[in-house]
Amino acid sequence: MGISIGLVGLGNFGRAFADLFKRHPLVSRIALCDREPDRVKRFADREDWKDKFHPRDAYASLDEICESDLDALVIITQHWLHAPQCIQAMESGKHVYSAVPLITLPDGDETLDLCDKLVETCRRTGLHYMLGETTYYHPEAMFCRRKAAEGAFGDFVYAEGEYFHDVDSSCNLRGVQASRENSASGKEWVERKKEYIERGVLSGPMHYPSHSVSGPVCVMNAHALKVTAYGYRNRNGDSFFADSAFSNETALFEMSNGATVRICEFREVAGSIAASETFRILGTRGSYMENQWKENFRNGPDPSEPLGNTAKPAQTMRLTPEEMRDPLPPEVEKAWYDTSRESVAYGGHGGSHAYLVHEFVDSIANGRRPAIHVWEAVRYMAMGVAAHKSALKDGERLPVPDWGDPPG
Ligand SMILES: NC(=O)c1ccc[n+]([C@@H]2O[C@H](COP(=O)([O-])OP(=O)(O)OC[C@H]3O[C@@H](n4cnc5c(N)ncnc54)[C@H](O)[C@@H]3O)[C@@H](O)[C@H]2O)c1
Repeated sequence: MGISIGLVGLGNFGRAFADLFKRHPLVSRIALCDREPDRVKRFADREDWKDKFHPRDAYASLDEICESDLDALVIITQHWLHAPQCIQAMESGKHVYSAVPLITLPDGDETLDLCDKLVETCRRTGLHYMLGETTYYHPEAMFCRRKAAEGAFGDFVYAEGEYFHDVDSSCNLRGVQASRENSASGKEWVERKKEYIERGVLSGPMHYPSHSVSGPVCVMNAHALKVTAYGYRNRNGDSFFADSAFSNETALFEMSNGATVRICEFREVAGSIAASETFRILGTRGSYMENQWKENFRNGPDPSEPLGNTAKPAQTMRLTPEEMRDPLPPEVEKAWYDTSRESVAYGGHGGSHAYLVHEFVDSIANGRRPAIHVWEAVRYMAMGVAAHKSALKDGERLPVPDWGDPPG
């Protein structure tokens, strides 16, 4: 039997997921919700939605849809709203999917308090929370998790993760911000934001950390213990950064597995070192970087065997996205097959949209915990919050809070 799902937030990003959720074979009923009625209408009026969408399942607010009997809600509202909305959804008895990040607020302590409440709500209600982190389902992340499961990295020694997104890049952040603030919920935030500025609480790019930290954390299956971070302050009085202490932040983390991780979150940078949203992971036996897997020679296929004494060049394997991706179930691929392009419509961000949708729907339909559960999500968020706190204290070495591994 299929599950019923409500899509909350059908703005620029949310609408990119609507058809994937609607066409997933395990979704039997779908509801639509946005405070902006035209954003609901865009899908509600479509002929090809009539098999799973009924007009009584159109909602004008989160409060209204929480009163429904739906199994789960997918929350793709603005980033300053996520965590309290997810808690509200679970308090109303629904599993919940959240767009990233877990939340972005200028006040790091408020964010950590919400991490705590989110974990407590999952524990108490037994309902599932999933963070929709796109990097987690980039092809390279899937490949590296498989390699890590085989033990092919050996011991992890070092990783880098980065999100370089210049304010004036082709996906212009000034336009994105203006669009997110140009709605009923956006206008409320413009007012609320002033309170933080009056209190002298300034944010920073590390408060949106999941694209850069999730790769190293999910592949190494380790969490951060300590951090030292530094910030670069905007120098030309750009009003875009008026509520931020820094436009760029760089952090070095000591991890629970003994590895060191370097993270960059940059919003003011020309070009970028490599892909704007990527990671590199180096182990004693195998390393991943820039679509390449590099492996040291070893005597046999058993990773526990010592390295050979005879020097041999490391082997390098170049990989395509198709080689790195995990397979999707054939019936799901069939439902998403785009005949005009003669390929599966994986969606944006490295094709991760399809995997995020499938993981959430499949986990809820089968009563299992989703891959990017709340204990994983708070690890990403806490790294960013602790890094920003360290940068504000000129690199002071600070502990990174952790909520432990999931129960069971
Ligand atoms: N790679 C990624 O993972 C990625 C990329 C882009 C955006 N995002 C995330 O997606 C989120 C949404 O971004 P966007 O550009 O679509 O924003 P948007 O402003 O275009 O859309 C948000 C929508 O949520 C609705 N909304 C807010 N509160 C609501 C409520 N209480 N009830 C019903 N509807 C409500 C708004 O009316 C709006 O239509 C952001 O949080 C962003 O962080 C993630």
